[in-house]
Amino acid sequence: MYIWAMLRTNTSLKPYNTFNIEVFAEYYAQFDSVASLTQLLKNRKDLPIFILGGGSNILFTKNFKGLVLKNEILGLKTIEEHSNSVVIEAGAGMNWHSFVLRCIEMNYGGLENLSLIPGNVGASPMQNIGAYGVEIKDVFEYLDAVHISTGKLQRFYKADCAFGYRESIFKRSLKDEYIICHVAFRLSKQRHNLNTSYGAIEAELEKRQITNPSIKDVSNAVIAIRQSKLPDPNEIGNAGSFFKNPVVPKNNFDKLLEKYPNIPNYPAPNNKVKLAAGWLIEKAGWKGRTIDGRYGVHAQQALVLVNYKNTIGQEILDLSNEIIADVKFKFDVTLEREVNIL
Ligand code: FAD
Ligand code: EPU
Repeated sequence: MYIWAMLRTNTSLKPYNTFNIEVFAEYYAQFDSVASLTQLLKNRKDLPIFILGGGSNILFTKNFKGLVLKNEILGLKTIEEHSNSVVIEAGAGMNWHSFVLRCIEMNYGGLENLSLIPGNVGASPMQNIGAYGVEIKDVFEYLDAVHISTGKLQRFYKADCAFGYRESIFKRSLKDEYIICHVAFRLSKQRHNLNTSYGAIEAELEKRQITNPSIKDVSNAVIAIRQSKLPDPNEIGNAGSFFKNPVVPKNNFDKLLEKYPNIPNYPAPNNKVKLAAGWLIEKAGWKGRTIDGRYGVHAQQALVLVNYKNTIGQEILDLSNEIIADVKFKFDVTLEREVNIL
């Protein structure tokens, strides 16, 4: 009785996704503890489940026949404290940027480059979120997750997570099997190892005439850069980079370099090269293109697809397929979507 009282039926997910797409969940419930989650799972009958965090990395293309569970587990806990470092555990439902700001306030270093990434703590290991030269794998300690089919709580350490560029085991072999409830990070308390090597951060600090930056200075610089480049989902529907930056074999890159001597490129492991998907999409002529005044490719950042108004998810998905085909045709490079499609 109690569990079914927690369920809502035929619920619009529009308020819960930053693309601002209207689809409906057959059933919808929120949980704020591992205990309430396990209760919900025990009583879910055979309903398919989808876990929702802040909805900032999802494109909904159809109604969901099943149970959408929104993770609202909050709370911060110090697990270990040493003179130089601290292990801090956060509830998966906590807003990521608020968590980063809390850590900076306490003078805990390591997350400052990841300021202002939308979404919640629980999704951060899903794609090993990254920005400005840092990924969460650099500070990740462990996560606790509930196994959906058995209800058992299990701990995963870094070595268990198979983190890669926008990748983890939870997007691959363990996809849809676990619900992340808490995530712990090992952060520095002093002698912070600042990473300001990313050109844009250096330039922003220089502009602010900061020569000896604190973690707060780096966070402020990252916030300013992000605000100048990326559309605010509160104003324009989007889910950040729609595609990953492609990693190609050196031979393919050499051919591209002959034709495009200014092509942005970054070294990648195994004799491969990472390219900038935004540059390829812009060069292919898609940047700023708008379809029907309703959706399109952002004018300042070609990697971001946007919903201006009244778009359905399938239209954005179709647009992404057109872009993938065109980039393949023009550069012989295959783009992969970064956003989760449902
Ligand atoms: P959701 O979108 O709710 O979920 C994403 C996926 O994770 C879904 O498959 C969902 O089922 C699953 N999931 C969510 N929570 C849990 C959980 N607790 N347990 C199990 N599965 C779960 N990402 C970057 O890496 N770097 C960036 O710089 C960056 N910039 C962005 C800028 C903008 C403007 C936007 C809109 C997005 C950006 N993103 C970026 C993408 C996004 O913010 C991150 O991927 C974020 O971690 C998603 O969090 P979320 O809580 O919104 O996840
Ligand atoms: N570029 C263009 N045209 C564009 C966009 C970019 O030519 O329209 C070029 C830039 O000039 C630069 C290069 O592409 O030479 C890289 O651009 P930028 O530094 O803006 O980063 P990005 O590769 O577009 C990646 C992440 C972002 C992350 C930033 C900062 C991916 C898929 N995207 O973007 O992550 O915030 O770097 O580290 O890796 C996200 O995942 O949602 C996201 C926003």
